[in-house]
Amino acid sequence: MRPPPRSDDVDPATRTNLTNAMKGEALAHVTYRAYAKQADRENLPEVAALYRRTAHTELREHFTEQAKLIGLVGDNVANLRDSTGGETYEATTMYKNFAAQARADGDRQAARLFSEIADDEAAHRTRFLQATKAVTDPSSGTVVPTDVKANPVAIRAGGPQVSSSRTLDNLRTAMKGEAFAYAKYTLYGDKARETGQPRLARLFHRTAAVERTEHFAEEANLAGAVRDTPANLCATIKGETHEGRQMYPDYARQASAAGDTATAKVLDDTAKDELKHAKAFSGELSRLGKQCPTSS
Ligand SMILES: [Fe+2]
Ligand SMILES: [Fe+2]
Ligand SMILES: [Fe+2]
Ligand SMILES: [Fe+2]
Repeated sequence: MRPPPRSDDVDPATRTNLTNAMKGEALAHVTYRAYAKQADRENLPEVAALYRRTAHTELREHFTEQAKLIGLVGDNVANLRDSTGGETYEATTMYKNFAAQARADGDRQAARLFSEIADDEAAHRTRFLQATKAVTDPSSGTVVPTDVKANPVAIRAGGPQVSSSRTLDNLRTAMKGEAFAYAKYTLYGDKARETGQPRLARLFHRTAAVERTEHFAEEANLAGAVRDTPANLCATIKGETHEGRQMYPDYARQASAAGDTATAKVLDDTAKDELKHAKAFSGELSRLGKQCPTSS
């Protein structure tokens, strides 16, 4: 993935940590929405509501605050340039390689999916290039295309549908990329709307929907990313605890040592939020009368 637009306010190591944190926040947001749907299916409305509230915090507070710290959102042209770069990488390199590896490993379904997504990303790239022309050269008569429509795919609870561990790793990497693209395009779309570019806002938001409800969803099905609610809760508690006890405190210490005081404060506050999330999800697990396996 290309680095986001430069902001020279933070130390390079802090920037790397923030980018990594944002990928985790984006993945948590998208995953929690899928877990909420699964809780709906199991008729567990309180669990579903907690997942939806927490998903909102991960994107609209944590991801958004971190995005501000590294200057992720630029002007519309910079955002389009960044998006075009990301789509190019996915279409011409990442998904092409993943498809070839899945084919070599005999994971034909995954190979087909990776190839189909590569074609979609190439189409996203074309639309972003057209939008760039429309925004930078209005006299050209080019308009921002908005002909993007997501065909949402339901995520079923179940185990992985692939045979090789390399395919599974690639699916997980791809899911992180899709979640990050979703979160980024959501913010880029908001920026376009705020700056009086409703067509561009629609393009970003609709493309975001494709990344989450089609690409991520199809990959999640093959990767077995959603299980029954007790298992989802255990995975969630483990992730939130790691972020709250280890990852964010480490990042905060590193930011503080590098002189990024404002960032360190944000990261410390985020650590506290994650521990609250872990506690709330543990409460739901107890209410269901379940426990997590001690090995996890
Ligand atoms: Fe978070
Ligand atoms: Fe895309
Ligand atoms: Fe995608
Ligand atoms: Fe969290």
